[in-house]
Parts: sequence; structure tokens; C-alpha cells
Amino acid sequence: MKRMVSGIKPTGELTLGNYIGAIKNFIEFQNEYEMFIFIADLHALTKPQDRLKLRKRIKDITALYIACGLDPDKVTIFIQSEIPAHSQLAYLLECHSYIGELGRMTQYKDQISKQAGESITASLFTYPVLMAADIILYDADFVPVGDDQKQHIELTRNIAQRFNSRHGDFFKVPEPVIPKQGARIMDLQDPLNKMSKSDDSDKGYILLLDDLNRIKNKIKGAVTDSFSDVRFDLEKKPGISNLMTIYSTLTKKSIKEIEDKYRGKGYGEFKSDLADIVVATIKPIQEKYNNIIKSTKIDEILDVGRDKISKIAYKKIMKANNKLGLGRKR
Ligand code: TYM
Repeated sequence: MKRMVSGIKPTGELTLGNYIGAIKNFIEFQNEYEMFIFIADLHALTKPQDRLKLRKRIKDITALYIACGLDPDKVTIFIQSEIPAHSQLAYLLECHSYIGELGRMTQYKDQISKQAGESITASLFTYPVLMAADIILYDADFVPVGDDQKQHIELTRNIAQRFNSRHGDFFKVPEPVIPKQGARIMDLQDPLNKMSKSDDSDKGYILLLDDLNRIKNKIKGAVTDSFSDVRFDLEKKPGISNLMTIYSTLTKKSIKEIEDKYRGKGYGEFKSDLADIVVATIKPIQEKYNNIIKSTKIDEILDVGRDKISKIAYKKIMKANNKLGLGRKR
């Protein structure tokens, strides 16, 4: 069975973008692949975090993974920081990464321009190397992610190939799996920018744990374009095209079917239907979440995940150390 590895960073609450771009696909793949899905808590530390809030978010993401449909009997779920080999391997990979290539990462460049004038942590710069470690530690075949992570997976491939060419074949070179549709859900107020949990305007994103009426209002209040025909055109009509993408991914109706259904009708009817569709997706997730978060299940699942993954990770990191001549020969 081929192996898939992916994770989500607990820097904020999960959005509809995380669901459509990542979690929904994890669920679709869980019967076909061996899946290791984690909570990337170390990655959250690139910016200062409130420790209690961080801890709550780690639990929330675990509960949401399951509430969204990940089956813990099929998928191994764990917390990144509970497996020390992630940070150990990240260091070994830093010794195989170049400042030039890290400085070219778009997410890094975006972040430093947003944080202009503030101190930038070294970990923000080495962030993608830790990500590479997360993936190749497990010799993943595939990495299901949204579009914004594509460049990081390309870097991961380069680092793995460089390591292999210096030290002999050792890491599997992974491939990204990016959904054809929904790989970049845009902000509802600013459809030229990605929907993000760290955005300032809360009207721009939908959280999986948002109040259902609020979700409806956010969709109805989403920025759309002049010319009120429901037609997909990313360049001229980015607002409505984004909403149509959400509609299509949640209903499995094609864009063409959606255009036909709303021909001659205005944005109002379309948005109102979309609001119902999004609520119908999120309501059962919230119900399951509310049950799971109160139970002891989360800790049990995370314990099982940690114990299974620890063994795999320990073996690989020891072999990597050995390969590089660290420590004593075993
Ligand atoms: P993060 O936490 O920002 O996002 C988690 C996943 O959600 C996807 N995503 C989106 N997809 C579509 N539309 C959006 N608006 C949207 N926003 C987010 C992301 O592409 C991602 O798949 N660095 C990673 C976490 C990570 C990781 C890894 C992922 C750490 N190590 C190893 C894969 C493999 C991150 O910050 O994702």
C-alpha cells in the first residue's frame, strides 16, 4: 500500500479552505492508502503562541479530523512534537539545504512582508525544512495538500534528491497530490487572496466551528462582482467563481451544471442555496465534534498514533544518523 503523509498547523481555527483543500481529500484517500496525518504543532511556534490556546487547538484539530470523517482505525493520527525525530531530521536536512532556496519560498517572502519591521524568527526561515522532515522521515509516496503548499513539496523533493545523491538512495522522493478543484479557496471579502485562518477580517473566512447563522450571513455577504450572472470566470468574476468552486466541491456538481441551474437567476438565489449547502456540510461535523471533544477518545487515538509512529520514526532517524557518520557505528 502506498503511503500518504500530511498535516495541519494549529495556528488558528480550521477554515472551510482547510476542509476543501486538505481534510476532505484525506478522507477520500483513506481507503486506498496508508495514511499518517498529524497536527503540526512545532510549525505553529514560528510565531509566538499562547500555550493554553495552542494546546486547545491541537485537541480541536484532532477532534475535527475525526468529526470530518477520518477513521482512526484506518488513519494514524499523531502530534508532530511527540515524535522527536521530526526535529532531529529537520536539523540533518538543514545541513543539506541552502539559504538561497529557502529565501525564495513564496510563503516566507509573504510572511516577512506582512511582518515588516517586526523581528523574524529563524524558524520561519527554516520552516519548509521541518516540513520536508515531516514527509521524508516516513518515506511518503504522496502528500495531499492545497495549492499553497506545492512549492514546499517541490523543495522537499529537491532536498531528498540532494541527500540521496550525496549519500546513496535513502529517502523516497514524494509527490504532491493537489485537488483539481478547491486547491485554493479564496477569501470571501477579497477573492484575490486565499481564505486563511489568520486573516484580520472574520467575514472573509468560514470556520468549521462558526455559528451556523453566521456562516449563512458570511456567504450571503460575500463580495461578488458586477454583472449578476452566475458564470465561472476566474479573471473577470473571481468572487462568484470562488463561490461556485465551493458549491461544486461540496455537491460534486460540475461548474457547467451549476451554470445551467442558475442561468437567468441572480446571485441572491445562488448564494442562498450555497449557504444551505455549506451549513448542511458543517452541521453534522459540529455535532460529531461536540461529542468527541467531551470524550476520552482523543487522547486514546493520539496515544495509539504516537506509539505506532515513534517506532517507525526512530528507526529511520537512527539510520540517517548512521548514514552521515554521526555517533558510533552500530
Ligand atoms: P496549513 O495549516 O496552513 O493548511 C493545512 C492544509 O490546508 C490547505 N489550505 C487550503 N486549501 C485550499 N484553500 C485554502 N484557502 C487553504 N488554506 C489552507 C493547505 O494547503 C494545507 O494542505 N505547512 C503546512 C502544514 C504542514 C504540512 C507538513 C503539510 C507541516 N508539515 C507536511 C503537509 C506535509 C501548513 O501550514 O498548512
